[in-house]
Amino acid sequence: GDVAVLVPAAGAGVRLGPGGPKALRLLGGEPLLVHAVRRVAAAPSVRTIVVAAPPSEVAAVRHLLASVAAVTVVAGGAERQESVALALAAVPAGPEIILVHDAARALAPPELFESVAAAVRAGRPAVIPVLPVVDTVKEVDAGGVVLGTVDRSALRAVQTPQGFQRAVLAAAHAGAAGALTDDAGLVEKQGIPVTCVDGHEHALKITRPFDLAVATLLLPS
Ligand code: CTP
Ligand code: MG
Repeated sequence: GDVAVLVPAAGAGVRLGPGGPKALRLLGGEPLLVHAVRRVAAAPSVRTIVVAAPPSEVAAVRHLLASVAAVTVVAGGAERQESVALALAAVPAGPEIILVHDAARALAPPELFESVAAAVRAGRPAVIPVLPVVDTVKEVDAGGVVLGTVDRSALRAVQTPQGFQRAVLAAAHAGAAGALTDDAGLVEKQGIPVTCVDGHEHALKITRPFDLAVATLLLPS
C-alpha cells in the first residue's frame, strides 16, 4: 500500500446529544470509530492509519482499536483542522498519498477509499467524493426571507475520505489560517485544482440522532 489515512475522531459530538465523544458512541453495539477503522483497514491500498482521538481518550482508543487494525493514535486538537495537522505530523516517511476521513462517516465502504486513492495516484493533487444535491437550495437573509434560488445542478455535497498528494496536504496545512470544515478547502485556497469523484450514500456523516438511526439501518445483518 502507498496510502496513509488520517482519521479525525477528536470531536465532542455536541449535535448528537449527551453521551460522550461521538467517535466512541455505539452503533449496533460498537463505537463509530471501530466501524470506521475496520473499513479503512479493509482497503487494500492502505498502509498506515493515524487516528486523532479526544485527548483524554488516547489510551482507551489505543486499547479499543488494538484488535481492529494496526493504528497510531495521537491526541487531537480543539478544532478539526488542528486534529488533522496533528495526525499528519505522525505519518512516517513512505506513503505519498494521504486520505483524510472523518470517524463520523463510520460506514464509508473500502471501495470509496480505493477510488479516491486511485484518482490521486493517477495524478490529481486533491480529490473529493461528492453526491448531487437533491433538495432545492435557496439563499436567505438573516430574517429568513429568500434572496434567491441557487442553481442546484452546479452544486455537490462533499464527503470524506478526501485524498491528496502528500506534499499538497502538508503545504495546505502549513499555510492554514482560520478553520474550514474540510481539507480540500485549504487546498483550494492555494489555487490547486480539486477533482470530484462519485461519493457513496453509506458515507453519510453521522451528526444528529436521526443520522445514527439511519446508519443503524445500513449495518450488515
Ligand atoms: N473532529 C476532530 N477534532 C475536533 C473536532 C472534530 O477530530 N476538534 C472530528 C470529529 O471527531 C469528526 C470529524 O472531525 O469525526 C467531523 O466533525 P463533526 O462531525 O463536526 O464531529 P464533532 O465535532 O464531534 O460533532 P459536533 O460538531 O456536533 O460537536
Ligand atoms: Mg464539529
